[in-house]
Amino acid sequence: MKRLLSAFLLVACCVANAQQLASPDQNLELKFGLSPKGEPTYELSYKKKAVIKTSKLGLELKGAPSFLDGFQIDKSEKSSFDETWRPILGEQKNIRNHYNELLVTLSQKAVNGRYIRIRFRLFNDGLGFRYEFPEQKHLNHFVIKEEKTQFALAGDHKAFWLPGDYDTQEYSTVTSNLSEVRGKMKDAVTPNASQTTFSPTGLQTPLMMKSKDGLYINIHEASLINYSCMSLNLDDKNMILESWLTPDAIGDKGYLQAATQSPWRTIVVSDKAADILTSRLILNLNEPTKYKDVSWIKPVKYVGVWWEMITGKSTWAYNDLESVQLGVTDYSKTKPNGKHAANTAHVKEYIDFASKHGFDAVLVEGWNEGWEDWFGKSKDYVFDFVTPYPDFDVQELHRYAASKNVKMMMHHETSGSVRNYERHMDKAYQFMVDNGYNSVKSGYVGDILPRGEFHYSQWMIDHYLYAITKAAEYKIMVNAHEAVRPTGLSRTYPNLIGNEAARGTEYESFGGNNADHTTILPFTRLMGGPMDYTPGIFQTKISAYNPENNSFVHTTLAKQLALYVTMYSPLQMAADLPETYNKFLDAFQFIKDVAVDWDDTYVIEAEPGDYITMARKAKGKNEWFVGGISDENPRTANVTFDYLPKGKTYTATIYADGKDASYDKNPQSYAIRTIKVTSKTKLQQPIAPGGGFAISIK
Ligand code: NOJ
Ligand code: CA
Repeated sequence: MKRLLSAFLLVACCVANAQQLASPDQNLELKFGLSPKGEPTYELSYKKKAVIKTSKLGLELKGAPSFLDGFQIDKSEKSSFDETWRPILGEQKNIRNHYNELLVTLSQKAVNGRYIRIRFRLFNDGLGFRYEFPEQKHLNHFVIKEEKTQFALAGDHKAFWLPGDYDTQEYSTVTSNLSEVRGKMKDAVTPNASQTTFSPTGLQTPLMMKSKDGLYINIHEASLINYSCMSLNLDDKNMILESWLTPDAIGDKGYLQAATQSPWRTIVVSDKAADILTSRLILNLNEPTKYKDVSWIKPVKYVGVWWEMITGKSTWAYNDLESVQLGVTDYSKTKPNGKHAANTAHVKEYIDFASKHGFDAVLVEGWNEGWEDWFGKSKDYVFDFVTPYPDFDVQELHRYAASKNVKMMMHHETSGSVRNYERHMDKAYQFMVDNGYNSVKSGYVGDILPRGEFHYSQWMIDHYLYAITKAAEYKIMVNAHEAVRPTGLSRTYPNLIGNEAARGTEYESFGGNNADHTTILPFTRLMGGPMDYTPGIFQTKISAYNPENNSFVHTTLAKQLALYVTMYSPLQMAADLPETYNKFLDAFQFIKDVAVDWDDTYVIEAEPGDYITMARKAKGKNEWFVGGISDENPRTANVTFDYLPKGKTYTATIYADGKDASYDKNPQSYAIRTIKVTSKTKLQQPIAPGGGFAISIK
């Protein structure tokens, strides 16, 4: 009897505590409750299928009682929100932000009634939730030991994963069941200039998964501000993912002061892969911008003195010395190595090319003193960001570029020496303003200085945002490489126009990317924001530029064109050399024509790891662009045109793989044709192994 009674009480307690919430379309259901120990728990279902089984929430603190248990629910409030907003630059002109919200206030009697809130927002495309720490008598400064947010999965899903790492995302994606992660981890961890893995089952976000019953599930975070970046650790016996924050130099995971909050933890879910790509949940969970004047934030199509260094044809460094010191080495007395690309005459050729073909900007890397020994030595004072090499005439190039209506794009490689960068930042940005640069590509190659910090620790998260907001004071747009993976912050800080934070095209010159790489990235890395993937490589054999480099590009030429549509970015590079584009001017026409800012996006068909076909409408223009890509397999894309206005006929120029094309044997074979299309046209377009196609419609 006693037993029965306690069982009854247990049920009663949980029912009394349970809270439910449905998405606006009722497909998603969230349950929130407390365990008998007062642990916060949640579960999530989609069309009655379990997405997240009962999972615990909470945080462990350093030197203070945890936020893990002993909670009671003080209050729970529900509300709804529905608004349509316009991003400054984006994949669509209008974004609907529509959700139902549950806000629960939880207190701990045993800890002086200390309380927190958990805010859940349930959209038609998924769930976001975060911890909030209101200002109160018994909660002021606190240190996070670990966040213990669980995502208990309903099965051993197929996952598209990268090894969890505090310093890099530049890994090839592994596709396997979650139960296979442990066995495949060792091979997945390939070398990088800075890397720190943390667990044999550690995974990065955005983590894309597919369940056996056909649910697509993506876990990431939104609005990562003043907090450390989250990875996931997999309990592979129970298929439970748990948050794993990036520590600082002394092992702590976050120094917070109430009132504050965690970033949003996000779960995007659908039974259609295409819905994952059109989800705007992560942007919606970020705050609207507070910038008053955004007129200076513009899309950027650019070329640059870059790929020739990446392939090893030329160098960033001016001379062949193995050691230089800023302010000590007198470069005018050193012997140039004859391969320094960033020289005035050569940069002018790029400016001419950009001007002739209508590009906005020219990036120049290796323009400033210090590249002879710039990373791998824990060197603090590597660059000052204002002193050009003797053969790079800043004023003359400023004048020349301006006369040709081309902007210069600055390059700030910090080599991870972040303290040094912050010391020079104001001067460096002012130097840009004075010399006609309105955007900067920054970089963080190598281990972070101060020593012990990681690329994704709270201190660095604060730095990346400092660099963005400081740049905004100078009306400068930022494209940060090796910085933390984006979490939708471009909504709030729209001058963050690009990021790398994944294995970019440069790896095609460092041994190659897998043929399925770009069929996965939109489902993973791009969930948080645009990527400066630097497509457009037409010379697929790297040895043509550098006989000692045997790498080759793992795509066909036509697929390189498709990437301008499938890899969203308002900042897009035509990364190959002008000398090569001059040999393929007919195919190059697509890169000249393609838009980078959009009114609308339509995912026609998609499956992560296999293929993507999408169409986009250019911002403010009656022009559409279609991109289709495949993995290593040939296939036929089913292209529809129902997004075109009804009853009108348009001319479509199709840039397709040649009949005999393939990424490994015949990548440069392509064919261009034009056809007439209407909204009713259905096109079956063959794709070569590792190939793709691009269409421009006017
Ligand atoms: C790595 C960046 O991804 C690459 O684009 C850049 O050229 C090098 N760092 C040098 O800064
Ligand atoms: Ca595949």
